[in-house]
Amino acid sequence: MKQIVVSNNIYYLGTNDRKKSLFENNWPLPNGVAYNSYLINDQKTALIDTLEFGSKEDYLNEISDQLKGRELDYLIVNHMEPDHSSMIGILMKFYPDLKIVSNIKAFKMLEAYFGISPENFIEVKEGEVLDLGYHKLSFHITPWVHWPETMMTFDTTDSVLFSCDAFGSFGTLDGGIFDDEINFERFEDEMRRYYSNIVGKYSNMVQKAFVKLKDIDIKIICPSHGPIWRENPGKAIGLYDKWSKHESEEGVVIAFASMYGNTERMADYAARLIAESGVKNIRVYDVSKTHASFILSDIWRYKSVILGSCAYNAGMHPMMEHLCHELTVINPKDKNYALFGSYSWNGGGLKSLLSFAEKMTWTKIAEPVELMGAPDISKMEGFSLIAKNIL
Ligand code: FEO
Repeated sequence: MKQIVVSNNIYYLGTNDRKKSLFENNWPLPNGVAYNSYLINDQKTALIDTLEFGSKEDYLNEISDQLKGRELDYLIVNHMEPDHSSMIGILMKFYPDLKIVSNIKAFKMLEAYFGISPENFIEVKEGEVLDLGYHKLSFHITPWVHWPETMMTFDTTDSVLFSCDAFGSFGTLDGGIFDDEINFERFEDEMRRYYSNIVGKYSNMVQKAFVKLKDIDIKIICPSHGPIWRENPGKAIGLYDKWSKHESEEGVVIAFASMYGNTERMADYAARLIAESGVKNIRVYDVSKTHASFILSDIWRYKSVILGSCAYNAGMHPMMEHLCHELTVINPKDKNYALFGSYSWNGGGLKSLLSFAEKMTWTKIAEPVELMGAPDISKMEGFSLIAKNIL
């Protein structure tokens, strides 16, 4: 591959994964995902994070080509999730004298995953600096962005932040590696989906990381997924700040589970009334058709959520149960909500949704709508109040 220069003697060594269907075997990858790794070829040499094992056959050759026969002195491990760390074992076989620079929590995982001897470890604590010659790297412990051992590495010389999962995105880098080489519109949805699915649960820890990094003048952000931010790193920071503060846009997500179309007709009726009340951003999703990953992303984006389920074995439909489970896990805050349900004999869908809503700290905008049998308009008057109160 053509050498990709990030800054003085800092090189991009990432790859695109277009084969994997599900990230973490859970989240769909219709646009693939990029794993980013970086090499600093200074007086001392350092690799910053690795790739998912098997994602790039010539990764080790590329490292040695870039080093031109020099040794690899350091591997900086910002995060131990295997999409960034699963090449470490083979890297250690290739460079047995390699020193691994990370924090104590990562070392426990390195021993557990790879049986690496503590002699290979160099522990760093908050703010400590590793001198590579021209580049001086400082380390910033940012737990739970996205695992407990996560840290970020900052090159104080060229003001480059290696942020790992933070500021990352789903989606492959199709030629354009840097933010000024791509149309970001394609990435914004994928970046928010990555945030809401993977990092959003830990939003309070993202805010703590911002506090820790507030005095750092960041000129380039090198995340471990998605584009490198060199033209407008403030854009990535602004989006993460907004999402981690649970700030949302005007709009409504209506997600429904329907076996034979009656609950879907309720969703469509509610959507129509809400459109008539002036809301332009309305997204209606069938939870049995659209993966929760995409619905969660739009719920993170918009202010209001309306959930509806048919009755299913005296509870809510299992696909709605899955969405509700994910919502309790990622816990989007500051939402307005309403519920609806339908049944053929004694119900259960709405009752289960009410139990779910009790677990959330959302604001109810109107009483739920529930009906038996066909969704005649006469049975759905309650949606008028939901539509009226949605703004
Ligand atoms: Fe991209 Fe938490 O791993």
